[in-house]
Amino acid sequence: MNRRSFLKKMAASVLALFGVGGGTYYYAREIEPGMLKLHKETLTSDKIPKSFDGLKILQFSDTHVGFHYSLEQLDQLSAEINSHDPDIVLFTGDLVDEPDQFEWDQRIKNVLKKIHGPEGKFWIYGNHDHGGYGTEIVREAMDAGGFKLLQNNHAILTKGDDSITLAGVDDVMLGRPDLSKALEGTDPDAFTMVMIHEPDYADKAKQYPIDVQFSGHSHGGQVQIPLVGHIYTPAYAEKYVEGNYRIGDRLQLYVSRGIGTTRLPYRFLCAPEITLFQLQSKQ
Ligand SMILES: [Fe+2]
Repeated sequence: MNRRSFLKKMAASVLALFGVGGGTYYYAREIEPGMLKLHKETLTSDKIPKSFDGLKILQFSDTHVGFHYSLEQLDQLSAEINSHDPDIVLFTGDLVDEPDQFEWDQRIKNVLKKIHGPEGKFWIYGNHDHGGYGTEIVREAMDAGGFKLLQNNHAILTKGDDSITLAGVDDVMLGRPDLSKALEGTDPDAFTMVMIHEPDYADKAKQYPIDVQFSGHSHGGQVQIPLVGHIYTPAYAEKYVEGNYRIGDRLQLYVSRGIGTTRLPYRFLCAPEITLFQLQSKQ
């Protein structure tokens, strides 16, 4: 049995066990993947300058367009994102499911362009972006959509004389992640946020002067069982699966369940989500 049919069989038996078949299967395949939850978080720190108080950062992740997620759905997502009026928009990787199979044309660029982020739109590579020879073509689409790539580098966000740091790391599985390079020349005492596709990399990130890590990749496991939780997550999302985690003295990790699905087109008790972060200054 190959990996895909093994996973399929496993998910089907779990669904059968808990959901008594047809209705739940239909729900997990046709209903829940199309639901979208807004998850809200406040990022509080005495390192956030007063001038950044109230800044809204919206994260979306793992759209996997092309695998049971259409451009029309991405278009609806762009409207949903805009309805929350974010100042900054972050995309934490895995734009399309299989870059070498995807029908690339102007349409996806036009949808990405519609997303409003008046103070910046930033993205990082996920494993599905580098996979399937996607590196250049995904970059071209994100560029055209107005998203700036952070690949082992950073942006300094400023308001008057104040600044905070936003860095991004190359994909951990299929790229060349380099946190030292990403943070080169930054002020270690400044409020510092980093995008890293794979959440488990936080155990390395905690050794750096980082306050917040934004990740995706886990999909929250896609299928969760009451009292048991998720049954499968990919490599580098085995320890940190969803929500927030305090790691070490300084680092706060936020793991998004993401939007789309991969391998299996199901979501159960693990609806797609976008996350709206609001900065709160404690100065
Ligand atoms: Fe993904």
